[in-house]
Amino acid sequence: MEDLQSELAQVLVSEQQIRDQVSEIAGQISSDYEGVDNLYIVGILKGAFIFLADLARELRIPHSVDFMAVSSYGKKGATSGEVRLVMDLREPVTDKHVLIVEDIIDTGQTLTYLLKTLKGRRPASLKTCVLVRKDRKSLDVAIDYLGFVIPDVWVVGYGLDYLDRYRTLPFIAELDRRVYDVPA
Ligand code: IMP
Ligand code: MG
Repeated sequence: MEDLQSELAQVLVSEQQIRDQVSEIAGQISSDYEGVDNLYIVGILKGAFIFLADLARELRIPHSVDFMAVSSYGKKGATSGEVRLVMDLREPVTDKHVLIVEDIIDTGQTLTYLLKTLKGRRPASLKTCVLVRKDRKSLDVAIDYLGFVIPDVWVVGYGLDYLDRYRTLPFIAELDRRVYDVPA
């Protein structure tokens, strides 16, 4: 069995804080899109799957859910690289009201890529909803709905991983540096 306690440095966002903030954002989205025939929610795999599941179930407006998967070239755990489309949407988004749901913004490369890609398909509208943004200098990318700003450290839990582990923790925690600062 893994010794979770020693691998996590500290909890940065608690289960309760996440729950409250997800409700808050769902309420905001529900009123902003009131009267819209359908909101097309685009979850970015894998990280956004838990956030999206909780968020979508609190929406009070008609919506549908689709997914895209992206990955960064040369990504081995805690570094960012060039973005690559791994799995596309099932449907064209032309004339749809699209909301991208993403887990975390670090450098901003992923969201910038997604916005550019989807904008080119001429949706009726395009907005972004992000659970956490790291407090660091990142690309100037528009976040319409934001959950939390956290320090510039590697975090796991509530969908976020390190080498595909820790995704199902109910809170967001800083990973202990000894886990990811492997000397080159
Ligand atoms: P960006 O393109 O540098 O903004 O990075 C965004 C992507 O990197 C996210 O969608 C995550 O998959 C991953 N990522 C960045 N920082 C973290 C982190 O602290 N924990 C887990 N995943 C992260
Ligand atoms: Mg991600």
